[in-house]
Amino acid sequence: MALRNIVERGDEILAKKAKEVKVIDDHVCMILDDMLETMREANGVGIAAPQVGVRRRMFIVEVDGVTYELINPRILEQSGSQCEYEGCLSVPGLYGRVERPMYVKIEGLNRKGERVEYEAEGFLATAFCHENDHLDGELFIDKAVDVKTAEEMYGDEEDDAEE
Ligand code: CO
Repeated sequence: MALRNIVERGDEILAKKAKEVKVIDDHVCMILDDMLETMREANGVGIAAPQVGVRRRMFIVEVDGVTYELINPRILEQSGSQCEYEGCLSVPGLYGRVERPMYVKIEGLNRKGERVEYEAEGFLATAFCHENDHLDGELFIDKAVDVKTAEEMYGDEEDDAEE
């Protein structure tokens, strides 16, 4: 496994629609391994392939110690709504609230090529939607309201520590 550079807002790959993964081979599995390592290193809860410069439809979400890997995902059902703060590894230092469904059912393939399906509510549902948006070239910040900087969000902690 290897750490990869995280692409930041402004890079055109983040604005493009990613392509279907046609063959799940060792190369795809290696990219997924690298994505997981990169996400964990950055303390993220989700990462999509375009964020490491790979224009393919796959993402990883890791919430409450459970790792979800989805290749060619598709949201099958959604209901309800929520509007909570989100951040993104590709948009460092900015947070904003985005309206999302409260519940989603999502399907895709795992790295063995098997069909998997997950139901999610609340934060996990938001994470799936946020990562799925990356595959369609959409960033949370472009539809967020009440956008805040890290300082506004979490206070002036670094300055306090220096005193
Ligand atoms: Co993101």
